[in-house]
Amino acid sequence: MDWGLQNRIAQIIKPTDNRALMLAVDHGYFLGPTEKLEVPRKAISPLLKHCDSLMLTRGVQRTSVNPKFPTPIVLRVSGGSSIIGADLSNEEITVSIKDAIRLNACALAMSIFVGSKYEKQTIVNLGKLVSEAEEFGIPVLAVTAVGKEIGQKDARYLSLACRIAAEQGAHIVKTYYCKNFEKVVESCPVPIIIAGGKKIPERDALELAYNSIKSGAVGVDMGRNIWQSDNPVPMIRAVRAIVHGNSNVNDAFTLYQKLCKEKPVKNSLVKQKIKNIQPKTKQYST
Ligand code: 5RP
Repeated sequence: MDWGLQNRIAQIIKPTDNRALMLAVDHGYFLGPTEKLEVPRKAISPLLKHCDSLMLTRGVQRTSVNPKFPTPIVLRVSGGSSIIGADLSNEEITVSIKDAIRLNACALAMSIFVGSKYEKQTIVNLGKLVSEAEEFGIPVLAVTAVGKEIGQKDARYLSLACRIAAEQGAHIVKTYYCKNFEKVVESCPVPIIIAGGKKIPERDALELAYNSIKSGAVGVDMGRNIWQSDNPVPMIRAVRAIVHGNSNVNDAFTLYQKLCKEKPVKNSLVKQKIKNIQPKTKQYST
């Protein structure tokens, strides 16, 4: 594997523990102004320093993320359909490799829709994207199983979708957790990261993260269960405790509750440092 490719993957999946905490904020690319992500900068800023990487579109990257803050970017490069359109699976590649390089993307992300009307188009696009991105040492994250047919989330379907993504050369696969998830992980030769899915109670989301990792996922790419929480910073820190701190669900939830009670940081030096890189939002101590 080329040095650049390895180095970029190492920025996403930390070699110290082989784990990844990615924050997903790309939802607007087909959902528009998703609840609590209406103003992306407001949602993203307080969370930035707690994630390893950030998954988003180029529009949100350019308008809502400070380029001086060194968070690796996983750039969504597929799109073309909306939640009110005829078929969500009808996606194409929407960003050129040149623009991805200009944006200093650490990885490119695109969706494949296995079993859908546009299955072939999205799988072929994945193969082409991997060929193009590898020329520049950029890894590709394939997102599987998102869409209206989300009821199909069993291990058989997810194993099929993840394996197809890996066979096309995806370097990391993102999918959903399910019963017998070990089987999905076992038959996928590249690392798997799980999406959080719809907002559920915080403790349940922590349990989802814990079970996914216990079953072999290298980490999470969580969105709604973090920024739709009433306490996004305590929530991402609790998820982090599971991903990088080997916390169990009880310990992580206790941490979440403790952080929720914590008052915003008073220390003026810390405040000043945060102010230099982020807009004014409630902050918590680290
Ligand atoms: C949509 C995506 C999202 O990034 C993904 O669904 C993760 O976010 P959430 O945890 O909210 O499900 O790839 O296609």
